[in-house]
Amino acid sequence: MSYEFILVHREEPIATVQINRPKQLNALNSRVMQELTRALEELDADEAVRCLILTGDERAFGAGADIKDMADATPVQMLRLNWIAYWDRIKKISKPIIAAVSGYAFGGGCELAMACDLIVASESAQFAQPEINLGVMPGAGGTQRLTRALGKSKAMEMVLTGRSISAREAYARGLVAQVYPNETYLSEAKKLAREMASKAPIALRLAKESVNKAFETSLSDGLDYERKLFYFLFSTEDGKEGLNAFVEKRKAEWKGK
Ligand code: CAA
Repeated sequence: MSYEFILVHREEPIATVQINRPKQLNALNSRVMQELTRALEELDADEAVRCLILTGDERAFGAGADIKDMADATPVQMLRLNWIAYWDRIKKISKPIIAAVSGYAFGGGCELAMACDLIVASESAQFAQPEINLGVMPGAGGTQRLTRALGKSKAMEMVLTGRSISAREAYARGLVAQVYPNETYLSEAKKLAREMASKAPIALRLAKESVNKAFETSLSDGLDYERKLFYFLFSTEDGKEGLNAFVEKRKAEWKGK
């Protein structure tokens, strides 16, 4: 399938989806979101691919939802189009998704990075929810995910002022997993993706699901959920293989079964 606003690079067992609307700083219109969710879903269904990267370019991961498209929208049009549902579809991808962020991750772009499983940033990355300056507010998860990631005070400061934080600050506060120079952030994200892709696929999928569950549930329900997934993995061939390979002092060979 050919795309207008994204590029898909397959380097099995990983694949990278790149938002490619550079003149608009990768502003996210509904076509961009439709294309990138479709590409991610197709790669999720492809057994040769085990870990995904979502990225933009060095200047912008994404400067937010397309303001020009929204400027004259009515609530009914917004409701009918309901394009923020694309962010929910990203949450349903079963393989790990790394957001490799450089430059602006503003508004919907910051929310898109946070909808991924983890963020690897370049030193020039900046994160902000500047919707308040447009007379609106974050609508694709900003008030919820930023608060869970940074805590209430910092999230309030960002959401109520529109101020940005740097990659270093985002790292210090736990929003970002790693920060690298602009020249290497993408190759480092790929290295990380390859490392994840080398693990047992079912364990990888369930471990991701379990960590994400921590955002949705109470501690005791989360612990219960985790334990059931852990016990379940003893029914998989890869679970047996991994444990036995350790005992037999050999490298495990994963079958994804
Ligand atoms: N929507 C549409 N176009 C955008 C855009 C956006 N979110 N962000 C940037 N662009 C366009 C600009 O209009 C400009 O296009 P033209 O050359 O055709 O005029 C081009 O990208 C380059 O932008 P700037 O000239 O403004 O670049 P800059 O380097 O001076 O500033 C910036 C960069 C600080 C990111 C600035 O562009 C900016 O403030 N952008 C808007 C950020 C924003 O408010 N995002 C939130 C959007 S609402 C949202 O996301 C809702 C939600 O929760 C889902």
